Amino acid sequence: MHDAPRLDPALVRPALASVQPYVPGRPLSDLRRELGDVPITKLASNEGPYPPFAAAREAIATAAGEQNLYPDPGAWALRDALGGRHGIDPGRILIGNGMDSLIRSLVMAMLDPGDELVMGWPSFISYRQGTLAQGATCTSVALAPDGAYDLDALAGAVGPRTKIVAVVSPNNPTGGAVGAGALTGFLDSLPPHVLPVLDEAYFEYLPDGGHDGMALVRDGRYLVVMRTFSKAFGLAGLRVGWMAGPPGLAEALAPVRNAFDVNAVAQAAALASLADAAAELPRRIGEVRAERARMADGLRALGLDPLPSEANFVFLEVGPERARAMDLALTARGVIVRPTGGFGAPGGLRITVGTPEQNDRLLDAMRAVQEPVP
Ligand SMILES: Cc1ncc(COP(=O)(O)O)c(C=O)c1O
Repeated sequence: MHDAPRLDPALVRPALASVQPYVPGRPLSDLRRELGDVPITKLASNEGPYPPFAAAREAIATAAGEQNLYPDPGAWALRDALGGRHGIDPGRILIGNGMDSLIRSLVMAMLDPGDELVMGWPSFISYRQGTLAQGATCTSVALAPDGAYDLDALAGAVGPRTKIVAVVSPNNPTGGAVGAGALTGFLDSLPPHVLPVLDEAYFEYLPDGGHDGMALVRDGRYLVVMRTFSKAFGLAGLRVGWMAGPPGLAEALAPVRNAFDVNAVAQAAALASLADAAAELPRRIGEVRAERARMADGLRALGLDPLPSEANFVFLEVGPERARAMDLALTARGVIVRPTGGFGAPGGLRITVGTPEQNDRLLDAMRAVQEPVP
């Protein structure tokens, strides 16, 4: 093999120097090689603990035979189904290669250097990355003590150059959610030049009476709401997210979107999942909530102090050194959790709620690595 000349760094846009790349978890295959026979429990990426619904798996198998063709770039069948389910005009719905793709399209379409996105922090990094990659300004405000977005602080940070204000609720990595009433009050308080974006990636895990962004869109409120099939629907590997917003949103984003952003297998699986949701979702969500409470109790019994969570994960603030040490010690026992430095919380660990067996293994490993309670 010959050495090739290195890419000329002058080709790269200077704005990218300020963007911290996403640090993915270590591949399972890597860890298997290192740990040998130890069973590996991955609780690091907030996926749902169970495979896709049976109807989705069938749809995936059927769609496999048609993959010589490009997918429907408009994802119309899925948009129609989502529109019907939520009472929203399908023309106001967009499907993306995960919510991540939609977040990126939104900031690409709207933010120039000098423009601003306001968000809470620690939080989901894609908003920040996308904004900085545009050369725009990402202004972040601290969270409330319970790990939810502080809506008063967020509203207070909005200025004349703010174009987007993002509310991630439940928030990743802390798990806190804003109240439904507080959210509508916040939306009412925003000046008209700002587009509010509500990230409901973990919507399904909210308690009864929690916010419902799609109902706000249906009621004619001015906001964008995003959801995903990656969590409660168990389709993280296929990458399907969606958003609904004001008329004109789809047209505004059209110039920056990939034509074939969502593959046909993913579209078919998401569509079939919707048909099965009434039968499948409540059981899965009920189990995650019960296991989340059991995990939090188990961690508390070890002297740890998880934040209250409305999502499918719990967050522990233990300080940077302890977080690093615990992460290493847990990994050596085959349990992978997520250190949250990349999300702006260098002293935190985020633990996804898994199956009862996985959670038992997490608690056993924690017991082994956690210093005894005095
Ligand atoms: C708050 C939040 N928003 C968006 C996403 C992206 O989801 P998707 O898998 O649909 O790209 C995630 C994924 O973890 C998330 O935690």
